[in-house]
Amino acid sequence: MKEYLDISDINNLHEIIDEAISLKKAPYSFEELGKHKTIGLLFFNSSLRTRLSTQKAAQQLGMHCIVINFGADAWGLEFEDGTVMNGSTTEHIKEAAAVISQYCDIIAIRAFPTLTDKEKDLSEHVLNNFKKYGSVPIVNMESATAHPLQALADAITITELKKTAKPKVVLSWAPHPKALPHAVANSFTKMMQRMDVDFVITHPEGYELNPEVTKDTPIVYDQEEAFKDADFIYVKNWSNYKEYGKVVNNDPSWTISNKQMAVTNNAKFMHCLPVRRNVIVADEVIDSDASVVIEQANNRTYSAQVVLKRILEHLK
Ligand code: CP
Repeated sequence: MKEYLDISDINNLHEIIDEAISLKKAPYSFEELGKHKTIGLLFFNSSLRTRLSTQKAAQQLGMHCIVINFGADAWGLEFEDGTVMNGSTTEHIKEAAAVISQYCDIIAIRAFPTLTDKEKDLSEHVLNNFKKYGSVPIVNMESATAHPLQALADAITITELKKTAKPKVVLSWAPHPKALPHAVANSFTKMMQRMDVDFVITHPEGYELNPEVTKDTPIVYDQEEAFKDADFIYVKNWSNYKEYGKVVNNDPSWTISNKQMAVTNNAKFMHCLPVRRNVIVADEVIDSDASVVIEQANNRTYSAQVVLKRILEHLK
């Protein structure tokens, strides 16, 4: 694997999931692979799971980690060409990416969308500028439009917990007071399209994701109808895609409670976390045996580890 920007960088999905599950059983079995190698974790936004699980994954492969928080303890970066830099930005991406590439063998980046400038967000300008001006592999730790490490962890979790060969998986929108990105929903959708599952998306009318992502995945506007006989309920809020970045509906009847879960096939409840309790999901669901959010978060380590392992193997 040369880089991990999107799940399209995975060639053989079954193979990588199996390898991640093997790493989970023996996490230190490739401790020599990353010896004398350094990963730089670059955060333009907050994180708990991605930060810690990627660091842990790298350490289990014997790598050194450098973490930098842009906006807190790094110079403000300029991404535009030809700018007269007499404003708030101090360092240009051209120098920053080249310099960081000298210190690190792999650069992992978290950079959320603006949710105001659709064109800029779709261009993945932060990730792609690091790719353009840096000289080492890039790993996406959640970008403007994708969260492929999360999607791989989700695929591992479903593979481990499924009870039938082809489970029914539902991605449901749920309300949230703030405008949230589409990245998790996009990557989860792309991942489910590649897995052997019966996949359905449900959300209020008008909350359609990017049609280039959803393609021919069935969209059911009646949440109860969508949930019938489901084996996995994956819940996530996203802001409006058409009226880009707007919160146009906050209908509390879409919050996941026992009422919704009752029509499922004893479905497992999944969410990438962090989650707003009693807004996205009722306590009665997330505190129940149906919830697998903690197992899901644990798999973030092994999704990161298998990706880093494959990039290290490519670097050799
Ligand atoms: N799921 C996820 O990416 O969590 P963090 O935002 O805490 O990293």
